[in-house]
Amino acid sequence: MEVAQPSPEELEGLKMENAGFISHEGRTYSTEENKVWEILCRRRMEKLPETACDAWLEGLEKLQMPMDRIPLFDELNERLKPLTGWTVRAVDGFIPAEMFFGSMAKREFPSTLEVRPMDSLEYLQEPDIFHDVFGHVPMHTNPVFADFVQEYGQLASELEDPDKFDALGRLWWYTVEFGLVDEGDEVKLYGSGHMSSFGEADNVFVGGPEIRPFDLDEVISTPFRIDIYQPVLWVAQGFEQLRESVAELRRRWAEELDES
Ligand SMILES: [Fe+2]
Repeated sequence: MEVAQPSPEELEGLKMENAGFISHEGRTYSTEENKVWEILCRRRMEKLPETACDAWLEGLEKLQMPMDRIPLFDELNERLKPLTGWTVRAVDGFIPAEMFFGSMAKREFPSTLEVRPMDSLEYLQEPDIFHDVFGHVPMHTNPVFADFVQEYGQLASELEDPDKFDALGRLWWYTVEFGLVDEGDEVKLYGSGHMSSFGEADNVFVGGPEIRPFDLDEVISTPFRIDIYQPVLWVAQGFEQLRESVAELRRRWAEELDES
């Protein structure tokens, strides 16, 4: 799932708490849709056992993520909720930032139910269920990462300043979507943007992007584009560092309020 930046008019119009959320009940998939999932899993799993971080790989196991068909939300939630209290909740495409953050604060991960079409396996600008569920959800089985995302959502839910939303949008982008983590002196992937893509993930390991140690100030001040391979990526020393970055922003912004 990705954050759609709301206009003031959109924010005004968002008083219906459950707008955008839909029921996953009764959603089943065609043979072709399941085949798309199977092909995507097979192709990504040629590389991910070597390039993904342990937390994500362990998450796949803990969720018993099916590789030959699209998982149903009930079965995912049955396994995910006892681990970290997170659940997956179906949404109808992009949801506005206010709802997105509120959902995170409640440990509900918003995911589309739709899978990309067979003729667009390589690239899809809008997140599909492969991006949301295969890419994101395994990380939510990791207790530290799970807390990080919830605390991120909580902080974002309390904000009104558009500049601070921008900062948090960048933090999300360069961690949850395209973050790298140092694991035994090796750089590993944990972001769903990498898990659910082909070329961009490979590009990380052939000297494509500049790779820097995680630096909160650099991350929140670096704009991103969604239509190119990311030219700079940041490597966290572990997921505690991400939690600490949210705590640091909370402290800074609270101090700003005290001073004003
Ligand atoms: Fe995403």
